[in-house]
Amino acid sequence: MKFIHHTTIALALLLSATNIPYANANPDEGMYPLSELNRAGLKKAGLKISEKDIYNPGQVGLVDALVQVSGCTGSFVSNRGLIITNHHCAFSAVQLASTAINNYLKNGFVAQNQEQEIEAKGLKIRITDSYEDVSVKILNSVANISDPVERINTIKRKQEELVKQAEKEDPTIKAEVSEMFIGKSYVLFRYKTIEDVRLVYIPRQNIGEFGGETDNWVWPRHTGDYSFLRAYVGKDGKSAPYSKDNVPYQPKKHLKVNPNGVKENDFTFILGYPGKTFRHRPAQYIKYQQDYLLPYVSNLYDFQNKQMEEAGKDNTDIALSLATRIKRNANVLKNYRGKLKGLRGIDLLSTKKQEDEALAAFILSKPELKGKYGNLLNDIAAYYQVSDQDALKELWINNIYNSTSLLKVARDLNTLKVAMGKERSSHAAKQLFDYNVEQLKKSIQETYESYNKQADQRIFGRMLADAAAFQGKNQLESIQKLQLNGETANTYATQLINSSKLADQNYILNTVLANANALSQFDDKLLSFQNELDNDIVIFAAEQKRREGVLNKLMGDYVAVKEIFQAKNFIPDANSTLRLTYGHIKGYAPADATYMKPFTTIEGIIQKGNLGLSDFDYPQEIKTAYLNKNFGPYLKKDLGSVPVNILYDMDTTGGNSGSPIMNANGELIGVNFDRAYDATINDFAWNESYSRSIGVDIRYVLWVADKIDNAHFILKEMGI
Ligand code: ARG
Ligand code: ASP
Repeated sequence: MKFIHHTTIALALLLSATNIPYANANPDEGMYPLSELNRAGLKKAGLKISEKDIYNPGQVGLVDALVQVSGCTGSFVSNRGLIITNHHCAFSAVQLASTAINNYLKNGFVAQNQEQEIEAKGLKIRITDSYEDVSVKILNSVANISDPVERINTIKRKQEELVKQAEKEDPTIKAEVSEMFIGKSYVLFRYKTIEDVRLVYIPRQNIGEFGGETDNWVWPRHTGDYSFLRAYVGKDGKSAPYSKDNVPYQPKKHLKVNPNGVKENDFTFILGYPGKTFRHRPAQYIKYQQDYLLPYVSNLYDFQNKQMEEAGKDNTDIALSLATRIKRNANVLKNYRGKLKGLRGIDLLSTKKQEDEALAAFILSKPELKGKYGNLLNDIAAYYQVSDQDALKELWINNIYNSTSLLKVARDLNTLKVAMGKERSSHAAKQLFDYNVEQLKKSIQETYESYNKQADQRIFGRMLADAAAFQGKNQLESIQKLQLNGETANTYATQLINSSKLADQNYILNTVLANANALSQFDDKLLSFQNELDNDIVIFAAEQKRREGVLNKLMGDYVAVKEIFQAKNFIPDANSTLRLTYGHIKGYAPADATYMKPFTTIEGIIQKGNLGLSDFDYPQEIKTAYLNKNFGPYLKKDLGSVPVNILYDMDTTGGNSGSPIMNANGELIGVNFDRAYDATINDFAWNESYSRSIGVDIRYVLWVADKIDNAHFILKEMGI
């Protein structure tokens, strides 16, 4: 399957750049900013309510029911601050609340009343309050600046200035300026935050994580990836830290849950906070991903996970301490492998090259564009030609500290130690120490929590061996000097770690960080190693900054001219700001001779369970209810069962997890949580043939809550 949708030059010449209705070759593609809803074609696609019911500046709309939950999305489903999101979005908070005796992660947690709800540590909630286009202000500030570093610094300074000003005008909000199109358009967002979040209802792990890594990024899927939280505020209605006296937050709007769900081909839409996509990038960017980033990171994470799994295989405590790292790695790793498969499958690189060639020809054909953008594509090619030369070095630098825990500890200690050394007096150095030591201890402690010596040594050895093998511009002087090879790198890593005191957590936290003097005098081989390495990194960081400035300008021009060329209004890439996407409940054919239906059922849980894999363990209660056909009102008659997960062609990415899926009337019928394997490539290119996302059907949520978990308190609150 190939997708070519570049407009022919002749057609583009006929159309003027402005006032053209949105004409997308992919009708269901697009993560629309709310300001663009009027050209999304929602009504034509099947929306039954008015666009103003969704978003109406100054008035209340569905968007007021949306929340951002620490990197995920969620939505209010009652007027008492009840929130529905994913199980995997609350995972870390559930883990923190769990003990061996009260293992909520494993057994789930159901509050039967508000008093029983427990603190969800670490979860923060944000609500989008309002926003405003500030592109002119930002771009005016750099109109006469051509030096790339100064340009990028000025843009950043201007962004900060606007943020400060907005927060001063209204101290109850947090502001953020988001780059909508790199180097081209900027929007100021005002957010309200909620600090007191509580766990209300968490399904047990073999429902909420059913399928585990085996089924991650896979359709057909049967995961009950949902959870319920509640937002609390102070009695005065203002955001406040956790306190027994806080009261449930009253949202301006909450979503109505429709227990009847959806059927195939129904119109649906999603509001949420998609993280990052890279669709408006030139061919060289795709080549960089395909040749460098995706293979490098996926291979590294694969290696890391093997070492961590090996380290924890006979020891539950070690396994637990490494579980979150392994889970995150596994999620990214599988996503990147999916992308690599997809890039090859659709040969996106060739398509992008053709697009860029046509764009170049278009620029040359128009005198007014030729003057301004005549060199653009050559400049882009030249940029990547240079940056590809040390791409491996950059990836290595970006990954070294997350790969080697003790080296990260060394870096954190050195940062303070070096800064203290630069102070004019020992008194000033001591002050600096006192000011920073608690924060430093906290971050070091966090690193130690997932530290394992055996895994650390092996991963460090591999990183050193990798760097030692680098050629040309990829070489790092500090590593070259050691003259290591594949074998000696491992020995070197092992010896360095063995000779270091950094593995002794107690000693570092209580002796080295006992006072300023102790830190100033602390010497360690790993610290010296990190110091040397840091010289290389600092030099490279300056070059990275310069490149960021160059790229910012090039990409701004690229998007601007491409918009003229394609004579259609671009939808900006995702950037963690609130977006709407719509589509339909739809199956697909991911491989020769296959067709995947858009609903899975309870029967599928039983079938997978029969495989005997631990990822597919499920509660006996599900089997019993299934055998007794105890489906209640949640039965979908044509399936003869309760629908578990649903598939649709909406445009989603990471960050959309937990987003409410709504029907044509704006009622909640499911919760988004994943994509099918082939849709991992969405981040570079969306296509109707392979882009499918996965959600949990609300009927499954309600069925489990009702028949398996007796969570009647929540059902009643949602009006079920
Ligand atoms: N793939 C989904 C997402 O990107 C679900 C992740 C849940 N985590 C996991 N490792 N299975 O977040
Ligand atoms: N699982 C992802 C998330 O957590 C969603 C996705 O990447 O499709 O946001």
